[in-house]
Amino acid sequence: MYLDCWLRPCRAIAYNASEMKLRNPENHSLPGHPAAGTLEFPEGFLWGVSTAAHQVEGGNDNNQWAAWEAAGRIRSGDTCGLACDWWRNAEQDFDLAQRMGINALRLSVEWSRVESEEDSWDLQALDRYKSALRSLHQRGIRPMVCLHHFTHPRWFEARGGFLGSNAIETFHRFAKRVVEELGELCEQWVTFNEPNVYGALGYVLGEFPPGRTGEIGAAVRVANAMARAHAQVYRTIHQLQANAQVGWAHNYVVFEAANHRSRLDRWTAALLSQLFNESFLAAVENGKLDFPLNLADGNVDEVKGTCDFVGLNVYSRFHVAFSAEKSAQLFADVFVPAHVPQGDSGVDKPYGEAYPEAIRAAVKRASRLGKPIYILENGVPDAQDRIRPWLIVNAARHLHSLIQEGHDIRGYFHWTLIDNFEWTEGWNLRFGLVALDPQTQQRTMRKSGELYSAIARANALSAAMIEQFCPPDETLRLTG
Ligand code: BGC
Repeated sequence: MYLDCWLRPCRAIAYNASEMKLRNPENHSLPGHPAAGTLEFPEGFLWGVSTAAHQVEGGNDNNQWAAWEAAGRIRSGDTCGLACDWWRNAEQDFDLAQRMGINALRLSVEWSRVESEEDSWDLQALDRYKSALRSLHQRGIRPMVCLHHFTHPRWFEARGGFLGSNAIETFHRFAKRVVEELGELCEQWVTFNEPNVYGALGYVLGEFPPGRTGEIGAAVRVANAMARAHAQVYRTIHQLQANAQVGWAHNYVVFEAANHRSRLDRWTAALLSQLFNESFLAAVENGKLDFPLNLADGNVDEVKGTCDFVGLNVYSRFHVAFSAEKSAQLFADVFVPAHVPQGDSGVDKPYGEAYPEAIRAAVKRASRLGKPIYILENGVPDAQDRIRPWLIVNAARHLHSLIQEGHDIRGYFHWTLIDNFEWTEGWNLRFGLVALDPQTQQRTMRKSGELYSAIARANALSAAMIEQFCPPDETLRLTG
């Protein structure tokens, strides 16, 4: 998910392919160069894909995102509709994933289906999740289940969401019920997807429901409540299930000072990184919110150490310049330089720089927690598959070299298997290894899907794969 409202609105993607010369990704001076051979990954490495309930299931009318859509807040004007039709038939795409050699799949449980009214449980919905998890096992695909991926029931939102009274207990009750029901079919749990994005876009930038702007204090209180809910759920899952592994998915963004010689630019970039990247990580690492986050709400002692793995969602780098005129945005002018690799543009703003190197920064930071790491999302909006093969190749190279350096990375989950409903952008941005026509529901494998499949099957990246999928004579067009 991108922090697009921080971006300068004028950012036309008018850079020129020849400027970038991103012909063969081998031109890049990256570690782990496989030109002469093959980069092999450790046995049991997970080559997965990540998904989220609202984006793929279809027919989710009872959550706050459906209300957001009804209020006309989807920029493209699209409706989620049937999405990828997973509620009726996720299995057709599980078949596809199996054929591709994918061995792990992250999905989320839609709270508004399972508890459509407070404390009233829909057993059929729970059964559907059970059957979906069984279908994955039958296909040799390990499920990872996320308990909150941006959506929750309208009744929970009406009570103030995670700022409402009893929010933590209410979420905890839902999570406990799900784990009691699905625990036999799942060992790996993600409590929250990107609490930092949820807080920033919902309470500071106004892009997500509840659409509040400039409320940094509220965003910190939300992060705080989610951190405490995460800690409670972490402990409960371990009481219920001896073999469980519990983590969360942390969105990590590289904020780069526009001018490294400018102290103000450096300071502004560091402030954004502190607020965005550190808010949840530091709570789990130390049971503390560092300055300035502790000013809003400080007590997260009980959160310390509550993870068995760190999940990282990594997409972009943003450049940051100090701007005295932007007091409402923490004096930050955030932009994407014209010459950097980008996928497709949002309805009225760029999505962000496609920056596989961000994986390196994210892993180095997360390693400080001393836990296994999964890259739980990484991808690019790219309907024509212009740069996705390049992104995948470079993500794999960085992962390989980080593993060689001793980082405990257990898996990479691409975002995503099949084009899905991209929040405020609707169907405008396409992240799938497989293309979807939402009208006809027809699926078409992209070249990057074939590449990912080759990597997953071999558990390796070879020079031959790069040759085949990113041939040197084929300029990877970077313009949208
Ligand atoms: C979110 C996904 C989203 C993806 C692409 C991630 O931050 O978790 O739900 O579709 O970004 O924007």
